This record gives sequence, structure tokens and C-alpha cells, in this order.
Amino acid sequence: MTPPDYEYLRKFLKDHSGLDLSAEKHYLIESRLLPLARKSGLDGIGELVQKLKAGSALFISQVVEAMTTNETFFFRDKVPFDHFREVIMPELLQARANRKSIRIWCAAGSTGQEPYSLAMSLKEMNAALSGWRVEILATDLSQDVLEKSKAGIYSQFEVQRGLSIQMLVKYFKQTGELWQINADMRAMVHHRQLNLLHDFSQLGAFDVIFCRNVLIYFDQDRKVNIFNRLARATEPDGFLVLGAAETVVGLTDAFRPFSERRGLYRPNPLLAAPGKTLGSGAAFTKAAAAAEL
Ligand SMILES: C[S@@+](CC[C@H](N)C(=O)[O-])C[C@H]1O[C@@H](n2cnc3c(N)ncnc32)[C@H](O)[C@@H]1O
Repeated sequence: MTPPDYEYLRKFLKDHSGLDLSAEKHYLIESRLLPLARKSGLDGIGELVQKLKAGSALFISQVVEAMTTNETFFFRDKVPFDHFREVIMPELLQARANRKSIRIWCAAGSTGQEPYSLAMSLKEMNAALSGWRVEILATDLSQDVLEKSKAGIYSQFEVQRGLSIQMLVKYFKQTGELWQINADMRAMVHHRQLNLLHDFSQLGAFDVIFCRNVLIYFDQDRKVNIFNRLARATEPDGFLVLGAAETVVGLTDAFRPFSERRGLYRPNPLLAAPGKTLGSGAAFTKAAAAAEL
């Protein structure tokens, strides 16, 4: 790969997905884009760059998708799901007792293990949530991972990562060598393609946002911009959950960390945006038809 081609791809990826590649990631580009180049009948990265410059929307999204890292697994890192069960849901059950509805957003849900881990966690507290409307929205930049998430079908290897045998048997059905999460779990999760670099104010305000292991790949300016917009999309008494290697500290005051609760944040009340008029996402919610528990 020539240095100008590498620089072109670096800038292209930063602009289209936020991915911020350091100067020495040639191997990463080659390992992910050479297979796509071959599949598209191109003779290497040079021709791929020429085709990108020609600007076909389909090819642009294929290149962006090929460069995404979709690693995920059920109940990943455990701690965020402890926060969900021990802090987030007990607080929301009290705070939303009148309206009996909760909106949760997995902002980079990948192949579904994260939103379905939340759905299973909710199902485990079924009695407390009887009669409540709970909406889980899973979004991702990649259409491919969203399709897999919608289908909810996983290999033996994937279900062995993070799921106990009890949860597997309770919430999945085996078909041949694959496991599909049950229809009632799938009905709890709605899917939508969304690039976090773009405006997401139309989604309305959420009580809980899981945005884990995605901003880690972004540069500082984009992280700050997204955190500030996530703060406007979080209810004032709502929660943000980040990945184990991510933090807002030192980047923005829009969220405040919980002490003793790693990765858990709440919008900064001192900065509650005057223009915070996102509402309940009613238009979106109607279309999504939140699941009744
Ligand atoms: C490493 S996975 C994390 C999945 C899950 N949140 C977890 O922690 O297990 C990162 C996901 O972010 C998605 N992604 C990358 N750039 C994105 C962007 N600009 N907007 C939305 N999603 C993006 C990728 O497609 C990928 O599925």
C-alpha cells in the first residue's frame, strides 16, 4: 500500500465511521480490505482506493463495514450488568413508577449479545416489571451485524461466551448446531441502523444508554462531540454506561461518574441543557411499538 493510499483511507475512515487509525496500522487495513478488494475483482488496495474515490455509496459502506470491529459477547465484562440490576433498575422502578415505561438504548449493539443480555436481565425481574413498557433500541453502523442481531441466532461458541447453561436453556432454542434466542426476547429489542457521527436527536430521550467499546476507536474531538450529544439524549436522572477502557473524565463535564461504580455515569445536573427538549421519542416509540412486559 502506498503512503498516499494509506493516508486517504485513514481520513476516509475517520470521516465515515470515526475510526481513528494510528500511523502504523497498515496490517489492519490490509487484513480487512484485501479480502473485500479480491471479492470485488480489484487488484489490491490501490484499485480499491480508486474505486472509493469514484464514490459508489454501496462500496463506501462495504469498506466502512469491513473495517468495523464487532467483537462482543453475552454479559460482557459482567460489571455493567451488575450496575444495571443493582443501581439502574431499582432507581428507575421508583422514579418511573407513575408512567411505568423505560427506554434503553444500546448505541453500538453489534450482533445483539449486549441488548439481549439486557433483555434477559429484565426478564429475570419480571414480577417487578409486570405491566411496564420497556423498549430496548439496538443501533449500529453496520447493517450486517444488525441483521444477525435481529435473527438472534448464535453458534455454540458464541453462546458459550458469557451465558450460563441455565440462561441458555431458559432463553434459547437449539436448532442443529445453532441456538436462537426465543421470540419473546427478540420482540423486546428493536433495531435501527445509526452512525453515531450523525445526528441522533430524533430518537428522543432515554433512561439508560449503553455505549460500550465503540468510542474507544475515535479521536478526542469526536468522543467529546458524541458524549455531549449523548448527554442531551439522556433523561436528567438517566444513566450512561461505558466500556471498561472508556471514560468521560478529562474529556467533558456533560456526565458525572458514580463513585465506586466503574463505567456508570449520570448527566451533570449543572449542565442540564436548556435546549434539552428531546421528549420521549414518541414518534419513534410509536413506530417501534415497545414491548409490554
Ligand atoms: C466492539 S463492538 C461493541 C459491541 C458492544 N457494545 C459490546 O461492548 O460488546 C463495536 C460496534 O460499534 C459499531 N460502530 C463502529 N463505528 C460506529 C459508528 N460510527 N456508529 C455506530 N456504531 C459504530 C461497530 O459496527 C461494532 O458493531
